[in-house]
Amino acid sequence: MRAQPWDAELYDTRHSFVTGYGAELLTLLDAHPGERVLDAGCGTGEHVAELCAQGVDAVGVDASPDMVRRARERFPDLGVSVADLRDPAQTPEPTGYDGVFSNAVLHWIPEAGRAAATLFAALRPGGRLVAELGGSGNIAAIDTEARRLRAGLSLADPASPWYFPTVAGYTAVLERAGFDVTGAWLFDRPTRLDGADGLRSWVRMFAGHLLAGVPDTDAFLVELDGRLRSSLYRDGAWWADYRRLRVTATRPEAG
Ligand code: BEZ
Repeated sequence: MRAQPWDAELYDTRHSFVTGYGAELLTLLDAHPGERVLDAGCGTGEHVAELCAQGVDAVGVDASPDMVRRARERFPDLGVSVADLRDPAQTPEPTGYDGVFSNAVLHWIPEAGRAAATLFAALRPGGRLVAELGGSGNIAAIDTEARRLRAGLSLADPASPWYFPTVAGYTAVLERAGFDVTGAWLFDRPTRLDGADGLRSWVRMFAGHLLAGVPDTDAFLVELDGRLRSSLYRDGAWWADYRRLRVTATRPEAG
């Protein structure tokens, strides 16, 4: 998960939309004061802070030490720690959370069954999960065009670090982990990337594998801009072709 190094400051400034969209999920979680909530993949801590401000007993984990360091700098009083969601033993104790929340993280974990098992183990029986990740077809235009460009340069087709499941596929993953899936939605969410270099900045931040071995990265990204401009640039801005998979699920009372 978060397989590439992360620039936590850049994440907060140029890519703050990740956090912004998470706010919709918090509404869906509907956590009440006093409830215990785990933010699985808390990034720089914004949502944990927001929950705590509402009186929720929230803590967060993230696999990136840089993200956790930044979260602690921003919010020194928060309970945030480094943990790999593939390992239930790394969940902050005591487990038995009333709610688990996860935004834009699970698509970095191809071992989806292991992550689902961790989320399940973190919840108390009757507890609820609200999660959103990239879904099937997410950023297909960017990925396809970058790979075409690489092929034109006789560069290898890199393995994808991402996991973008279908509704049926991810529902099955959650059910196998023991969840009762109460909702699953796949929807397009074109996402505005700030600045004239928005697309290039996004690729540098999130898609290092598409640049691996490229002799002249700047020229590659300029060419990518040109090829994607007609489909992803409108109203004076770049729009990434995000497609989200949002799920709600509960750990059964008897589970
Ligand atoms: C996403 O949020 O969908 C995403 C972010 C970075 C890389 C790939 C997907």
